[in-house]
Amino acid sequence: MTKKIAVLAGDGIGPEIVAEAVKVLNALEKDGLDIELEYGLIGGAAYDEAGTPLPEETLVISKSADAILLGAVGGYKWESLDISVRPEKGLLGIRSALNLFANLRPAILYPQLADASTLKSEVVAGLDLMIVRELTGGIYFGQPRGVRVLDNGEKEGFNTLVYRESEIRRIGKVAFDIARKRQGRLCSVDKANVLECTELWRETMTELAGDYTDVDLSHMYVDNAAMQLVRAPKQFDVMVTTNMFGDILSDCASMLTGSIGMLPSASLDESGKGMYEPIHGSAPDIAGQNIANPLATILSVAMMLRYTLDESLMANRIENAVEKVLEQGIRTADIYSEGTTKVGTSEMGDAVIAAL
Ligand code: IPM
Ligand code: MG
Repeated sequence: MTKKIAVLAGDGIGPEIVAEAVKVLNALEKDGLDIELEYGLIGGAAYDEAGTPLPEETLVISKSADAILLGAVGGYKWESLDISVRPEKGLLGIRSALNLFANLRPAILYPQLADASTLKSEVVAGLDLMIVRELTGGIYFGQPRGVRVLDNGEKEGFNTLVYRESEIRRIGKVAFDIARKRQGRLCSVDKANVLECTELWRETMTELAGDYTDVDLSHMYVDNAAMQLVRAPKQFDVMVTTNMFGDILSDCASMLTGSIGMLPSASLDESGKGMYEPIHGSAPDIAGQNIANPLATILSVAMMLRYTLDESLMANRIENAVEKVLEQGIRTADIYSEGTTKVGTSEMGDAVIAAL
């Protein structure tokens, strides 16, 4: 049966990198992948067109699709808008509306890029880490939130960090299940020494461990986890953490792999339907110049094939093709080093297709 894929390119480099990912999908169609693409607006592009970063039509397309491919949102142009209509709200809104609570952010170091990392190659060589980030709760969505004016006229900003046991358990299960299929080690990251909410997080993870006696659960405070990620990242197999900690730690982990331009992600709901996007942002400073790295988006397509479309052989093909291209020394600017060949966004997409 034909699978429907909603394509939401968004802002900045979004359209360029998504175009390359679509080229890869089209190439796979020739080999029998039965898909239909439907395009929608999100972020600043949607605001400009429809006055909202998440038009109803985009939600309709996305809800009826089997999977969603997203580029990135945001840019200088929209920074002064009210927070309620900023591009980022479109992204947060679709995550929430589709209940995409489980965000999987793998950080894998391709051996060919060991020198592109700012860390010593022996520290990162062989790195294969999965960060499982809770995506629809925590301080990103907690109420109350806002900025109020106190009696003395001073302004006060406030946000709420809140997690229910059921929310912690559901992301915990996803992480334990993933750990089970990997090396069987799960590190839950919290700030239980200071924040009650994450004390509950730790207790709930510990309880859940009773159902997963084959997984080795450990706990780490987030400050230490940030340090350990750059000190000795290979100690980790799977990490599970809150929305905000996961946002921060996954950016940190991305640099272990040489470039944030290499990291894909999947955001899944309870039934495995998902939205797939690179973890990097819209990079407005390099938008429209054909220099952005499309590999994170192309690798997000591989995740889509594996997790939602049940086409793991095609997913493997994409991942192998990316590896082959790196082997050939083909690099976008962010991962370029002396002795390799620098190419643009679309040439990188072409190279992946040629290697498929
Ligand atoms: C990410 C991004 C988003 C987030 C922004 C763009 C809202 O940083 O996907 O990591 O904070 O979740
Ligand atoms: Mg982020």
